[in-house]
Amino acid sequence: MDINRIRGEFPILDRKVNGKPLIYLDNTATSQTPREVVEAITRMYETTKANVHRGVHTLSQEATDLQEASRRRIQRYINAAAPEEIIFTRGTTEAINLVAASYGQRFRDGDEIILTVMEHHANIVPWQLLGNHADIKLRVVDIRENGELDLEQYRSLFNDRTVMAAFCHVSNVLGTVNPVKEMTAIAHAHGVPVLVDGAQASPHLRIDVRDLDCDFYTFSSHKMYGPAGVGVLYGRRSLLEEMPPYQGGGEMIKHVSFEKTTFADLPFKFEAGTPDFVDIAAFDKAIDFIERTGLDNIERQEQELLAYATERLNEIAGLTIYGNAPGKSAVIFDITIQEEQEIVAIVVPKDKKTEIMQAISSAHGMDSPAHGVAFSLPVDGIMGL
Ligand SMILES: Cc1ncc(COP(=O)(O)O)c(C=O)c1O
Repeated sequence: MDINRIRGEFPILDRKVNGKPLIYLDNTATSQTPREVVEAITRMYETTKANVHRGVHTLSQEATDLQEASRRRIQRYINAAAPEEIIFTRGTTEAINLVAASYGQRFRDGDEIILTVMEHHANIVPWQLLGNHADIKLRVVDIRENGELDLEQYRSLFNDRTVMAAFCHVSNVLGTVNPVKEMTAIAHAHGVPVLVDGAQASPHLRIDVRDLDCDFYTFSSHKMYGPAGVGVLYGRRSLLEEMPPYQGGGEMIKHVSFEKTTFADLPFKFEAGTPDFVDIAAFDKAIDFIERTGLDNIERQEQELLAYATERLNEIAGLTIYGNAPGKSAVIFDITIQEEQEIVAIVVPKDKKTEIMQAISSAHGMDSPAHGVAFSLPVDGIMGL
């Protein structure tokens, strides 16, 4: 793999920040965008911008074709059975909210949802919001010392009140890759549907929703070299068919009157309003980039960088990296530093220390459910200071 050629495909890497070349390591938060994706967006605004599924004129037809081509591409990319199972959302967060709000309408007082302690807030809060509708209990699976999920505890939490299991494929905090196929089989053995938060897996791993056999799978374009503002909910058709709409208006109606509205067929039933059709079309080009580069090559390069970063970070006295599960993904997010000031002096000039710590805590500080306070080091920002 020719890294310099790949670097050359990312216009942002040409820029300097305060006189220094940009080094960007914040890919769990969002990835950068290759030229072909940027050009696809510009091209569409310059030549093909028209609302989708709304007009018979040429531009509208072309825009619709581009959007639907992207849907079919994503379907093939994750091996879904049909394009109707691909719902466009604003991102992973909206996709999970959609399932919680729509599928969750059937939940009743006393029902239980199984989550894990390593979930992103996007896979916690939508389920908590169901509390306004019914008294639902969240059962949370713990992790072992090395960051692996406690599979035995997961298995033991199922009972006849369990109505959903929702967990990440790859943890954004620990890099742990969960045994999704096995976890899904355990849930299904209890008749429980599974939602997989794939936000951190889809940029790195080959996703096959039929092989995993999950019922819902969610991910975001902006973490996969694609534009921001687009995400995907994959849903098993039989479940999507029986779920009520999430939002109302626009393309999700078949017929509307003040007395009664009938809803559009899948996938449009869940796509109210004008979708982000420009970015949806450009997402197709991001998948081109991933496929051309090759997921195997991407993974090899990431593992090399992970091994190097882990080795060098471990040379720093007093520093602990959380998450050392075997086969972990290339995520170093959560570290604690006994003597914080020394670390800051290592990565940035000392005179910028206060400014940087303020920036970290205000922009990136957050409570991690896994362990106390976690922050994602905005290394690109730090390098530029
Ligand atoms: C594991 C995980 N789930 C969900 C999200 C939310 O994704 P988005 O902000 O694109 O909706 C993130 C974002 O960092 C994530 O890492």
